[in-house]
Parts: sequence; structure tokens; C-alpha cells
Amino acid sequence: MPELKILKTTVDIGLGHEVKFLHLTDTHIALDDEGDERGRFQYFSDAEDYFHQTCAYAKEHGLVMFNTGDLLDAHTESNFAFADKYLLPTDTIYAAGNHDFCHFVGKATEDYAYKWDRIKYSAPHLPNNLYFYSRVIDGVNFVTLDDSYYLISDGQIEMLKAEAARGYPIVLGMHIPLFTKAQADQILANGNKCAYVTGAPREYTDKYPPDRSRQQVPDEATLRAIEYINSEPMIKLLVTGHTHINFEDRLPGDTLQITTDGGYHGYAREITLV
Ligand SMILES: [Fe+2]
Ligand SMILES: [Fe+2]
Repeated sequence: MPELKILKTTVDIGLGHEVKFLHLTDTHIALDDEGDERGRFQYFSDAEDYFHQTCAYAKEHGLVMFNTGDLLDAHTESNFAFADKYLLPTDTIYAAGNHDFCHFVGKATEDYAYKWDRIKYSAPHLPNNLYFYSRVIDGVNFVTLDDSYYLISDGQIEMLKAEAARGYPIVLGMHIPLFTKAQADQILANGNKCAYVTGAPREYTDKYPPDRSRQQVPDEATLRAIEYINSEPMIKLLVTGHTHINFEDRLPGDTLQITTDGGYHGYAREITLV
């Protein structure tokens, strides 16, 4: 049995009491590999084991799981059955990942129309609204919104503003990290041809391969969203996945952004808010 790696991070948000939760992301459950022409599923062979261990850890310690997406590598009947049996019974708050909308990796243009076509297949197997969701636990508002295609809408930000107005400190969960120079440079230094972050500026996206540039250039609404997230004092922490690395740094407004490596890789992060 592979060994789970639980990172432990304490974040001071001026709460005055402790609230703990378990961040999990990018499990990439990849069952049904008959169609796996590219041998992709071999990378995720420990994903199920790690997921079961993570759920057991959360249960043992009484932690809600804050899952920032890509539980499923693609849409297969066995993957959906796995989610029904092992995800839905857990206490999980969920942010959608790009793979949660993916019928088979690399077989379609993953654009806005594709997502809204595919969402009806995966949404019944995932625990909450995938566009936007909020749940208050012990005085902390856990909010998730879908940025899984590198875009955030004005509607999502209006909903986020309405959550901020409730007066609780917000922990925001999104699949894809917001651009910071430090994380983008790290991902590129790791040998990637693009940085896989939301809101990368032109000096970065102009150097990406054309298809990645088209995919990752932010639109006007996304730029407005990032400006709001950076300036909203009620947002105390941003928790993300997607890039499959462990990373922590500050957004321009000084909010901490935490990224956790993939659950398929054995990582989860216990976060203590104080
Ligand atoms: Fe992923
Ligand atoms: Fe992803």
C-alpha cells in the first residue's frame, strides 16, 4: 500500500478560534482503461488507494474535505460508480476541475459549449453545485467556484460578492490557481510549455504554444474577477490544485494562495485556520 503524505499548514486569518479542514485535489481516478491509447492511466494507478486513505484520515480526524477537482480523470461508467460509492458518502465540499468535464482526455476541444454539454454527465456524481457553492462551517464561509477552463464569469463574482456581504471570512476554492509570477515560473522551470494558471499576462501567454495560448488567455470578465478577488478583504485564503505541485505564495492583494499536489501522487493537506 503506498503511503499517504499529509502536509500540515496553519493560516492565521484572525479567526480567534481553530477551524481545521483537509484539502484534497487532482485524484484522477482512472478506471476503464480500454480506451487509453496514450497509456495515460498508468500515471494514476495508486489513485484509488490514496483516495481511500485520505477519506479514512478525514473521518478519523473529523475533517471536512475541501476538494478542488479532477477527482475523475475522464467520464467512464466505472469512474462515475467510484464517485457514487466513495465520494458522495463523505463530507466534501467540491470545486470542479477540467477533467470532471472530460469524456476522454485529448479527444475534444474543451471550450465553453463542451463544458455545458458534459456537466450533466458528471454533476450527478459530485456533491454540490459545480458553478458556485458556499457552506459556512464554524464561522468560516467555504466557497467554491468553477474556473476549470481558465475563465471566471461576472455572474460568479456577483455571487461571491453576495457571500462576502454575509460577513464571514471566506476560504475560496478553485481548481486552477491564479497567476503569480513565482508559481508560473516554477511550472515553466519544471519543463512545461505553459503555466496552466488563470490570468497569466500576455508576456507569458504569447510564448505558449498557440492552442495553449488560446486556452489560457483570460477574457475581460476573468480579469475583472481577479481584480475583485485580489481586493476583497473578506477573502482570507485561496486553495487550488490543477498544477500538480505543492506551492504557497501571495496574490497581489496579499491573500495567501495554497496549491496542493495531486491526490494521485499521495498528497493531501490539513489546513488549520486560526
Ligand atoms: Fe489534475
Ligand atoms: Fe486540472
